[in-house]
Amino acid sequence: VSVRRRDDYDIIIRRGVVRECGDFIAPVLDHIEANSVVIITDERVDRVVLPELARSLTACRIPAEVIVLQPGERSKSLPTVERLLQELRHRGVERRTVLVAVGGGVLCDLVGFVAAVFMRGLPYINVPTSLMAQVDAAIGGKVGVNHQSAKNLIGALYHPAQVLVDPELPTSLPLREISNGLAEVVKVGVIADPCLFELLERSADSGPALPFEEIIRRAIVAKLQLLSDDPFERDLRRLLNFGHSVGHALEAATGYRKYRHGEAVSIGIATATQVAVQKGVCGGDTGQRIIGTLTNLRLPTAMTAEHHDAVWDNIGMIQRIRNGSLNFVVPRSIGECDILESLTYEGYRHAVEALERGNGACSSD
Ligand SMILES: NC(=O)c1ccc[n+]([C@@H]2O[C@H](COP(=O)([O-])OP(=O)(O)OC[C@H]3O[C@@H](n4cnc5c(N)ncnc54)[C@H](O)[C@@H]3O)[C@@H](O)[C@H]2O)c1
Ligand SMILES: [Zn+2]
Repeated sequence: VSVRRRDDYDIIIRRGVVRECGDFIAPVLDHIEANSVVIITDERVDRVVLPELARSLTACRIPAEVIVLQPGERSKSLPTVERLLQELRHRGVERRTVLVAVGGGVLCDLVGFVAAVFMRGLPYINVPTSLMAQVDAAIGGKVGVNHQSAKNLIGALYHPAQVLVDPELPTSLPLREISNGLAEVVKVGVIADPCLFELLERSADSGPALPFEEIIRRAIVAKLQLLSDDPFERDLRRLLNFGHSVGHALEAATGYRKYRHGEAVSIGIATATQVAVQKGVCGGDTGQRIIGTLTNLRLPTAMTAEHHDAVWDNIGMIQRIRNGSLNFVVPRSIGECDILESLTYEGYRHAVEALERGNGACSSD
């Protein structure tokens, strides 16, 4: 007996798509025989993005209600899920309603999860508004919320019915949020798309004038290719973890307060790159290009010495849970990575110290 399932959907990447979203959402509603939407957003995005989006829905005669949450990671929690489920119930939502997540990664993860569990699954549409959400969180179907004990502990794999990406939106983000999203773009560039990496290298100091449309499109295509279910390329998916072993450990060691996710990933990418240079897996010039580009994108590349041990403890724990295999992704060249089974304390220590002294990727001794 074989079971076939369909979870294909379109990702529309188009300047100004928020202003014309009704034209794109209407056919999806028709297709799944839905007749209204409930938009879930946060207070900040509500001010910046919602007016134009709502105007377009009204023009297309799509009935829409709006629920506005507090911005920030704290909203990605079970209490908010509970509150949203009650709101949906209270508003009489049933299967013919589509949820629309309008916001950053927090909103995409949270709304996708609520959609997955409400009445065993409502359709949902992502309108990612931060760069992090556009290139990463809104794509791939990973949804979920945090638990007091761990980030992203509760979740599901549940794909959206459509994703609308407006490359004009990141221009209104604070510079720190732009850099935050760019860390994930550097990641996919180094593991899979040398042209994307070169584009970042060339335009690193453009700030809000970055060529967002091309960057976002290439980053999404690269991520989707890495996620594709090719039985011969099972390792591809694991490459997406580049920078994340150290990144996640650093976020946990600093209580998720000191660094934005992309900043921790940037330090993770720099550390993995330094390890690769030390081991002779990648040349010093390539290492320099990766770490230099992160710096030019205003991303941190070194953690302070006070966190070295706590981060190692977290990595060691993961390594032990997985019976000694960490699957540590390291660059070989731009566009090509290797996976090392494990990382030794000496190798780790040497790398983080070289980066902290500010001579990361200079030498392989
Ligand atoms: N599911 C996945 O595959 C995946 C991948 C990467 C990240 N994530 C998750 O995404 C979350 C981080 O996402 P994030 O970095 O977008 O954070 P976020 O959702 O908290 O958004 C960052 C801030 O930017 C504001 N904002 C968003 N769009 C804006 C706009 N256009 N103009 C002005 N302000 C705007 C938000 O209100 C918020 O204050 C984390 O919880 C992370 O776990 C998930
Ligand atoms: Zn990430």
